[in-house]
Amino acid sequence: MEKIVSLCKRRGFIMQSSEIYGGLNGCWDYGPLGTELKRNLKDFWWRRMVRERDDIVGMDGSILMNRQVWVASGHEATFSDPMVDCRSCKSRLRADQLPEKDGKLHCPVCGSFDLTEARAFNLMFKTYVGATEDESAITYLRPETAQAIFVQFKNVLEVSRKKVPFGIAQIGKAFRNEINPRNFTFRSREFEQMELEYFCRPEDGVELLEYWLKERLKFYEDVGISSDLLHVHKIPPEERAHYSQGTYDIEFHFPFGVQELEGVAYRTDYDLSQHQKASGKSLEYFDEETGQHFVPHVVEPSAGVDRTVLALICAAFCEETITDQKGKAETRTVLKFHPRMAPIKCGIFPLLKNNERLVGQAREIVESLRPHMMVFYDESGAIGRRYRRQDEVGTPFGVTVDFDTIGENGPSNQGTVTIRERDSMKQVRVPIGELKSFLVDRIN
Ligand code: GAP
Repeated sequence: MEKIVSLCKRRGFIMQSSEIYGGLNGCWDYGPLGTELKRNLKDFWWRRMVRERDDIVGMDGSILMNRQVWVASGHEATFSDPMVDCRSCKSRLRADQLPEKDGKLHCPVCGSFDLTEARAFNLMFKTYVGATEDESAITYLRPETAQAIFVQFKNVLEVSRKKVPFGIAQIGKAFRNEINPRNFTFRSREFEQMELEYFCRPEDGVELLEYWLKERLKFYEDVGISSDLLHVHKIPPEERAHYSQGTYDIEFHFPFGVQELEGVAYRTDYDLSQHQKASGKSLEYFDEETGQHFVPHVVEPSAGVDRTVLALICAAFCEETITDQKGKAETRTVLKFHPRMAPIKCGIFPLLKNNERLVGQAREIVESLRPHMMVFYDESGAIGRRYRRQDEVGTPFGVTVDFDTIGENGPSNQGTVTIRERDSMKQVRVPIGELKSFLVDRIN
């Protein structure tokens, strides 16, 4: 994990927020490559969940909402973790994560057994809307994106003219004042979620839970997280939320343990019924086929963007020993991202930087590919070093413009370039005119 954190910082994937002021615990900034990676993930989720389907539409809700949303959803009363204080070193700790010594719980910071009783700590960030900081102005930064979907259910249903089963998808920020943010970005205080609320008839809920579990597992395969790194945990009934009729956690083998990436939950009609009761507005669906009015049931696949980005990096990270042309062994660090997720799709290199024709041709290729994908031009250093720098950030293809390309070694390879594939390090020659389709076919 240390190697991964250090690579993320060194190459501009993920950095501490407010670093020059000592940081802010549980908050992270994404640098140029991290931002591309995150965007690729979110765009692919949106493509799979919304654009390629007829039964799901998108929405983009506000982060601040009427406080009554959080009262009705139950978050104000119960969205909490048990917390204890250590009387010796004053650390605030999650009561359910304390280590045990000789059968007794103790403080993981100083080792003391002198801990307070556990009490509930609400995870929502409280804030005030408007100029007066009194009780009537209180609201919260949303701790999940889902509630915006539930409270807009009727509006979206009307404008989209969908029939059940149908879904509303959303990607956006969520905030939780976690007692112990930890494991890099895994448990943060500010993070993003990709959530789908899939509304259905009550009798279809159980079957749709299984359907969505399968769909979501396929999604992870399609972004390059192989099934042997995933684990499905079926939450036993006594551990599920009281309204849930089935929940699966999709877990990933992180270097720090097997931990949750996404929850797929059958939430019944709980959320819509709560909001219907609290707001006094009907959230019922009228089924034209049967003539019945009912509150739809919901199956919710809810994934974390930041956790999935971290999983993509952990799954891709690889150190290989390779032998160079002089027979010397060296370590090659590679991020073996699926080309679809890779922040940069193609590196473009003129063999020499002081040859105008090589540089001119390479720059022309950059301009022709730029509208179709993220490319990176690099002319500095030995070609092997340039390949290594791109391997380390996961660029799947490297295009080299050499003397064959510009016809200086005769006409046979003129107008062709070499494409080096990151994982196999194999090279093929391709005509410049076929470069775009060669790459586009492999990155989409
Ligand atoms: N609407 C349901 C919901 O929010 P959750 O299991 O609390 O369910 C869903 O959160 C996902 O959001 C998690 O599986 C995880 O990927 C992500 N997530 C939750 N808390 C997080 C945190 N503190 N830091 C990063 N990601 C988090």
